[in-house]
Amino acid sequence: MMNKKSFAKAKAKKPAKPSAPKAGGKVAASDTKSTKKAYSVLRGMHDILPREDKYWRTFYRTSEHLADFYQFGKIETPILEEAGLFIRSIGKGTDVVDKEMYTFEDRDGTKVCLRPEATASIARAYISNGMWNHQQPVKLWYWGPMFRHDRPQSGRYREFFQAGFETIGIKDPAADAEIILIAYSFYKDIGLPVVIHINSIGTPEERERYVNELVSYYRNKRSYLCEDCRNRIAKNPLRLLDCKEESCQKVKEGAPQILDWLEEESKDYFMKVLEYLDELNIPYVPTPSLVRGLDYYTHTVFEIYPAFEESAEGAPTGKEGEQNSAASIPAQAALGGGGRYDLLVEELGGKPTPACGVALGLERAVNALRRQAEQNKIMVKDIKYDVFFAQLGDEAKRLALRLINEMRGTGLQLAFNFFKNSLKAQLELANNLKVPYVVILGQKEVQDQTLIIRDMESGVQEIIDQKKLESTLRKKLGKVSAEK
Ligand code: HAM
Repeated sequence: MMNKKSFAKAKAKKPAKPSAPKAGGKVAASDTKSTKKAYSVLRGMHDILPREDKYWRTFYRTSEHLADFYQFGKIETPILEEAGLFIRSIGKGTDVVDKEMYTFEDRDGTKVCLRPEATASIARAYISNGMWNHQQPVKLWYWGPMFRHDRPQSGRYREFFQAGFETIGIKDPAADAEIILIAYSFYKDIGLPVVIHINSIGTPEERERYVNELVSYYRNKRSYLCEDCRNRIAKNPLRLLDCKEESCQKVKEGAPQILDWLEEESKDYFMKVLEYLDELNIPYVPTPSLVRGLDYYTHTVFEIYPAFEESAEGAPTGKEGEQNSAASIPAQAALGGGGRYDLLVEELGGKPTPACGVALGLERAVNALRRQAEQNKIMVKDIKYDVFFAQLGDEAKRLALRLINEMRGTGLQLAFNFFKNSLKAQLELANNLKVPYVVILGQKEVQDQTLIIRDMESGVQEIIDQKKLESTLRKKLGKVSAEK
């Protein structure tokens, strides 16, 4: 044990030099304790602050509710995976693999990366946890951060959150439609009208024939293309259709369309997916140039865009149910995207297993809701409190802490602030929160084992027995059970 003397001795000792780390680079002089430095968040990353919490909570609850209703089990996979998993799944030549992965060597020399997306991880988990043995399809949902070292700009971050839904082990247009329905319902429930841009990219054989045609079309137009696109002709021709450069957009207008290169079976599959969307009244825009930026897709591919008018420059326009022009929409505005990936599980060493899924970009949903709120449309509501618990004096404060804790789990939404001691300040807070009732506990009430309930609208006060707090509030609020 350290006594006073040894404590003083230890204090007098010179601070030890920080030892060099085993892996992961040098410690900068400014990062040692001897100097002071104000750290800021890394470029492209961001803190999620309490003022945004109402959005995030709503998103989580909505995802969870949809997952429960459509019977998707929650899965969490590690943020760190072998880099090869994504290189193999997403494909060399894609922006994500070539430019955006956070890859580094682990201490044992394994090449690892921060996951840029979760579909590859889910396919890996499906195989490594023997889920092919379960009843098919296996339906999984997830929520978490993804990392892409992209050029940060509005709506594009280096760390961003996704909620995703994957249906593995079935090829049926109803599965594609269910995934799209879940995505559509998510935005509907959070108050954001959206439209689905949809296409089919068929089988790899169909795509190969189409790509040959696409390459010969683009070869003749080389001089009109941006430098990236010139490289894409040889490296990854499908990505030519993604380019947002104006000159390339013009060339794209005359490009062959993949739907014309699909066999009857693939066309038929796509039509069936669209028929489901018609039945479900989900607004969609067939978008022939939509090919997605990840290599694992087959057949159905889709992206979700806001369907409300925005004044912001470059933002999409259109109303729910209306078909808006695909060409006018910037890539970074996609709220979510997904599709079918029938070959991925096999590509990663599993049995042939068809699958489809979607991932929803949550920061973009926050931004879209904010923009919508600015235009006085729909807003995500703040938490609605039932009652404010005010206390006066030390003894009351102690008892209030216990009584409030006892109310936890009753389903009543309590607001309180132990760090404001005056009643006036606490009533002001209650007023700002627009609570219908305030419970007041002062010295006298502590002794009498009573509480005052104040009706904030009429100002009428009533004294009740402390034991009757929950039942009295329930009666006043019209809440009979513990369920809200
Ligand atoms: P993704 O299109 O790459 O698809 O990403 C889905 C959504 O994540 C995008 O539509 C966007 O909202 C958001 N997102 C992507 N990159 C960023 C970024 N840098 N900053 C902010 N938000 C971003 C996938 O990730 C596939 N795993 C989807 C899927 C699931 N396919 C089948 N199953």
